[in-house]
Amino acid sequence: MLIRILFIFFTVALQILGNPINQLNDKKGQYLVTNLPGLYDNIPKQDFPLMFAGQLELYKENNTHYFFWRFSDSGARGAAANRTIFWLNGGPGCSSMDGALMEAGPFRINLKKEVVYNNGSWHKAANMIFVDQPAGTGYSYSNNAFDVELYQVKTDFLVFLLKYFEIFPEDMNKEIFLAGESYAGQYIPYIAQGIMEYNKNPVHESKINLKGLLIGNGWISPNEQSLSYLPYSVAAGIISPSNPNWSLLLAQQEKCQNVLNNIGNGDYLSQLQIASATCEKILSMILSATLDQDAPKDSQCINMYDFTLRDSYPSCGMNWPPDLADVTPFLGQERVMDNLNLIEHKEWHECSGTVGRYLSARHSRPSVELLPAILEEIPILLFNGNRDIICNYIGTENFIKEMKWNGEIGFSQDLSEVTWLHDGQTAGYLKSERNLTFVNVFNSSHMVPFDKPEVSRSLIDLLVGDYVIQERSHGEDREKVALTTSKRKSQLSDPNSDKGKSGASKTEDSTKGTVAPETQQESQAHTNTDSDSDSNSDSESQDSKENNLITGTRILQFAILIVVLWGFYVLLSSYRSGPSSIIKSKPSNKKKNVQWADQLRQFETEEMKKNEQGILSRAFLKFKRNDKNIYAPIDGKGYENIELQPASEGRNVEEEHLQNPGMDAFRIGDEDEERT
Ligand SMILES: *[C@@H]1O[C@H](CO)[C@@H](O)[C@H](O)[C@H]1NC(C)=O
Ligand SMILES: *[C@@H]1O[C@H](CO)[C@@H](O)[C@H](O)[C@H]1NC(C)=O
Ligand SMILES: *[C@@H]1O[C@H](CO)[C@@H](O)[C@H](O)[C@H]1NC(C)=O
Repeated sequence: MLIRILFIFFTVALQILGNPINQLNDKKGQYLVTNLPGLYDNIPKQDFPLMFAGQLELYKENNTHYFFWRFSDSGARGAAANRTIFWLNGGPGCSSMDGALMEAGPFRINLKKEVVYNNGSWHKAANMIFVDQPAGTGYSYSNNAFDVELYQVKTDFLVFLLKYFEIFPEDMNKEIFLAGESYAGQYIPYIAQGIMEYNKNPVHESKINLKGLLIGNGWISPNEQSLSYLPYSVAAGIISPSNPNWSLLLAQQEKCQNVLNNIGNGDYLSQLQIASATCEKILSMILSATLDQDAPKDSQCINMYDFTLRDSYPSCGMNWPPDLADVTPFLGQERVMDNLNLIEHKEWHECSGTVGRYLSARHSRPSVELLPAILEEIPILLFNGNRDIICNYIGTENFIKEMKWNGEIGFSQDLSEVTWLHDGQTAGYLKSERNLTFVNVFNSSHMVPFDKPEVSRSLIDLLVGDYVIQERSHGEDREKVALTTSKRKSQLSDPNSDKGKSGASKTEDSTKGTVAPETQQESQAHTNTDSDSDSNSDSESQDSKENNLITGTRILQFAILIVVLWGFYVLLSSYRSGPSSIIKSKPSNKKKNVQWADQLRQFETEEMKKNEQGILSRAFLKFKRNDKNIYAPIDGKGYENIELQPASEGRNVEEEHLQNPGMDAFRIGDEDEERT
């Protein structure tokens, strides 16, 4: 022990006395990432991201640390350099390494557990910071201090942000965006609200320059979104009224509608707005009803994250995406944990069931209620991959229809859908009004950047107005017909084949949107990354200067830092009484009501082994296998025995649907359109 302490003193002293560099602030230095398996072999030099990562302490008293991984483009200039996006995955309890290594980050993981480049990486459009939160998620940890409600998530993230800005003060002055997916549709509006409250507090002199939110396949208005499962499934051709379970599905739909109608009526369920097991059950019923028992074992069930794919039952998508099979062992490597400067080495799981169970959010209002106030100040872009069932686009469109923001309810009646063209191809369509943009992204799953990395990166362009508008004129009126975003110029192999902006602007009647001039500068920067000659730009080139410092003396300093960190690690571990594996609290007894997208997957790692009945039965808590090998409610009744609810007001809903197969047929018992 004494030797260790002396050793640490020695190395610290050496670091202080012999510190050859102050160019890079010292706080930041310990987070620098200089190696990863495959980094130098597989990543093109011009695409090398400048990286910082580590576990940042939030609270000493309970040892709470959030893991972050920051990527920036060393050649970035202008808008891209001046933008910082914090990315959050959902769950609750799922790691943002999904985002970093399977979606918007610069890397994918190959079969050899090495990094390879993602051509659509968002770090070319913004500084990207992927954060594992709340505590216990991914590489983040604490001494069993778990968040239970969303206001805690908000507070903790604000603490994280402020600590983060101490280390990266330059990011504080950049344009800040929050982006994420799925259950982050709850996190992000709460955090945005927290930032706005912080900015309005006169005590705080420095403000956080929050500029916009991007939420993909978000779980924002849960019960309303649950009501979309059936209409979506019919529209997608997954199920039809000829299905033997159709009437049961309609009955469940009605029960869910009744739950919604009773919210705010002093009903017990008004306490549970984020979660209604009744509503969420519709999805599990659809998955059961569409089970194909004649298909091979691995494809009997529809994948609920992408209906064009199939999975084994009852996983129904939880074995997806396939990249997870490489990402998990990649992050399980000790050397990777060293590369990422982890203080506390931790077995990485995509999703933590413990975090998910604690974060029941029973007393939190659904985030949809926060959106109107946010939209008064900043724009929000909601996007949906159109193949996702669990957070499908119809659900998003439906809650937008009922939401009142900036003076009106929903989008205007006559607001038409505008085609979104990216790089000459139809990428989807969008609607945009009063700071809210909704984008339906074609041919994409629950994880849009997984399927369409380059297209997804241009969602940023849509949010910040970096596109070309094509209009058609009818006499006086001009009708918007398409928005065009383009490939990053640095990626065009032939500089003359610029069919993006300039091509579009040639078309008749098209007008320029707010096309940021930075794009030009950026492309120059990319072609010149190897020379410093063009670095006449000011603070924005700071990152690139730092990047160039990762040579010579930097390596020496870094080696010293590693030794110091290692020394501290050894010291800490020798003092720690418990084992270094963390988070081993008992799950709360309360039943989870939000049986939520990414969260479902957690049961695979944590509970499937213990539970032969499989994930869905656990996830939905209400199902077990009966002797006919059919999943049935746990009370022992099979589907046959569920009492069919009488159709409201004597209507035969099924018949009505058959006569009028429009979406409104699904709004059973929805006499009271008023929602609070
Ligand atoms: C990425 O772009 C490079 C160069 O344009 C190309 O060779 C490579 O195949 C692309 N990779 C993927 C996965 O599309
Ligand atoms: C929309 O957002 C901008 C900031 O981007 C803000 O100034 C404006 O007040 C917001 N409200 C409306 C109705 O556009
Ligand atoms: C993508 O989606 C569009 C619209 O849904 C469709 O027409 C097109 O065939 C799809 N493309 C692919 C490659 O699936």
